[in-house]
Amino acid sequence: MKIGTIASHSALNIVSGAKAEGFDTVLYCQPKRREFYESFGLGKSIVEVESFDEILDLDTEDVIMIPHGSFVAYIGADKILKSDLNLYGNKELLKWEEDRELKSRLMKESGLRVPKEFDSADDIDTPVIVKTYGAAGGEGYFIAKDKEEAISKMDPDEKYGIQQYVVGTKVFVTYFNSLSKERIEVFGADIRYETDADANLRFDEKPSFVVIGNLPLVLRESTLVRYFNMGKNFVRGFEKLNGETIPGPFCIETIIDREQNIYTFEFSGRIVAGTNIWIPHSPYSYLQFGEKMWMGKRIARELKELIEDDALEDALLPK
Ligand SMILES: Nc1ncnc2c1ncn2[C@@H]1O[C@H](COP(=O)(O)OP(=O)(O)O)[C@@H](O)[C@H]1O
Ligand SMILES: [Mg+2]
Repeated sequence: MKIGTIASHSALNIVSGAKAEGFDTVLYCQPKRREFYESFGLGKSIVEVESFDEILDLDTEDVIMIPHGSFVAYIGADKILKSDLNLYGNKELLKWEEDRELKSRLMKESGLRVPKEFDSADDIDTPVIVKTYGAAGGEGYFIAKDKEEAISKMDPDEKYGIQQYVVGTKVFVTYFNSLSKERIEVFGADIRYETDADANLRFDEKPSFVVIGNLPLVLRESTLVRYFNMGKNFVRGFEKLNGETIPGPFCIETIIDREQNIYTFEFSGRIVAGTNIWIPHSPYSYLQFGEKMWMGKRIARELKELIEDDALEDALLPK
């Protein structure tokens, strides 16, 4: 089997890791990005496509496809769910991620503390962040300090998700659920730097939350223990609701307030770009493996072990 992905997001991370573990690799790449990926020595892996959804029509039977954020954004969860791609991870989770109600059900079932949600603007009793339905990348969101301000900013014909605005530090933690080693590994933490919410100066009340990049974060060890348990509970919560596990990488997206309460507002059931800062290894992956171990390589190591154990199918869900 080969390892493949589309040329964006964390493709350098994924493909370099697969090569390091001895896999043949495929990088589905648009012509405009060929030169960039060639400059990293990945020219031989490139299969050119004009648009990423062309991969649905290619013969990919011998390719284990690694989904990442752009993968979902470009091809769409619907098409991916219906496809017969050999997708590493649990495709079903894409649905839970996209749907606001399923998303918060899963976080609650996992025992995670979530920001208070308001079904109606009339119930608002805290500062809030108002998220337009269907909007992504934090665009089209706004904040309001109270009920009156929120109502004055809302369009009565629009559907919104209204959440308590949690003041604190954003913390994104990535995990790896290894079926081969039967353990959850906490891989690394980062802060997503978002414009212009993270800018020092801004002259309006409509911050945008578009991610610019990621900053490394090493948590207090006592805090890391809490996250470790949250990761375990998250996988258990999903197993309880869905009956199947979450193989491989996933991320829990949180804000810690001044009382050190950890609020989870989102998750990603796949590799996140925050792992790109941990090439060649994170502090934790180094301690776990005693060698260079970045997320792309971690994925390939797991796949290699599963193939050796004739258990690859367990990691391509649903069956
Ligand atoms: N409840 C909240 N309190 C404070 N900030 C929040 C809250 N929810 C989201 N944010 C901020 O808004 C950003 C985008 O929200 P998110 O729910 O992740 O939307 P998207 O689906 O667009 O990624 C987050 O990265 C975070 O900075
Ligand atoms: Mg988000």
